[in-house]
Amino acid sequence: MDESDLKVLSAQADDVHDAGAILRDGGLVAIPTETVYGLAGDARNDRAVAQIFAAKGRPSFNPLIVHVPDLAAAEAFAHLYDLARAAAQAFWPGPLTMVVPLRDGSGLSKLVTAGGDSVALRIPAHPVARAVLAAFGGAVAAPSANPSGRISPTTARHVIDGLGGVIEAVVDGGPCNVGVESTIVDLRTDTPVVLRAGGVTADALQDVLGVEVGAAKSGGPIVAPGQLSSHYAPNGTVRLNASVAEPGETLLGFGDVVGDLTLSATGDLAEAAANLFDCLHQLDAMGATRIAVAPIPDHGLGIAINDRLRRAAAPR
Ligand code: TXA
Ligand code: MG
Repeated sequence: MDESDLKVLSAQADDVHDAGAILRDGGLVAIPTETVYGLAGDARNDRAVAQIFAAKGRPSFNPLIVHVPDLAAAEAFAHLYDLARAAAQAFWPGPLTMVVPLRDGSGLSKLVTAGGDSVALRIPAHPVARAVLAAFGGAVAAPSANPSGRISPTTARHVIDGLGGVIEAVVDGGPCNVGVESTIVDLRTDTPVVLRAGGVTADALQDVLGVEVGAAKSGGPIVAPGQLSSHYAPNGTVRLNASVAEPGETLLGFGDVVGDLTLSATGDLAEAAANLFDCLHQLDAMGATRIAVAPIPDHGLGIAINDRLRRAAAPR
């Protein structure tokens, strides 16, 4: 697959304007966000949203995150109670998605919410995502811009490799600096629950909200497909908590564990998160069939990293 299968737009005003026009026409554009590249389509347009599922080959019962430019747009779609407002004030724009009650007459495609009475909302911080939203003048549904079940894209190149020939265009805004998806928190009640670990830690949420923040039990009903166990999978098998590679294994290092490639040579969790998906893509490109991964400390962003790695390692 090469670039000719997919128009690569720059972050310059003319190109961003074109991206807005594609969205207004009901087309799909992959856009950079601070977490991962998103596959964006008009959140009010059933056909556009259906195309998102088709392009990803994604099971259609999964609801999508709606990306809005500002708080007023969020309030037009949903009811934000006190905790949601506090979270918005502290973390928006940024890598936090809130699940909140859908407003009657929101105008969102029912495909976005999978017909449910809640909606997942986020204001992205990435300047290019914000510029595209402004050029479009609406809200976009945007799951990660990868074929379903594959590694999330953190560069335009990843998007081209995964969806070239399938979608119209990608806006190249450089590598994503958070590198793991947004934290999803259910804020429909006064007991928030983290549905997916991500760029904002549960501790940070708890500090801001001043209430206990729960974590969704694994093994319970699947509420977020990030919770499907074999998600984020590279082509090779994955063995976790490895300090040395066994014969035939390719080692993904961290800190003191020096690998064939490394998430962060200095043991920096933020750097590791930013590198995670790119490293998994690189392992695919290297043809690694057996991947060993160094231990990652299970605190802060390490919780989101380990969550993704466990899914990558799950039997398929
Ligand atoms: O960082 C991110 O969140 C990226 C970038 C592009 O913004 N987007 C992303 O979207 O990861 P996606 O579609 O891959 O993940 C959406 C998650 C799914 O796990 C879905 O189940 C959950 O959000 N979700 C969406 N609406 C929901 C709802 N009403 N209730 C519970 N979970 C919901
Ligand atoms: Mg995804």
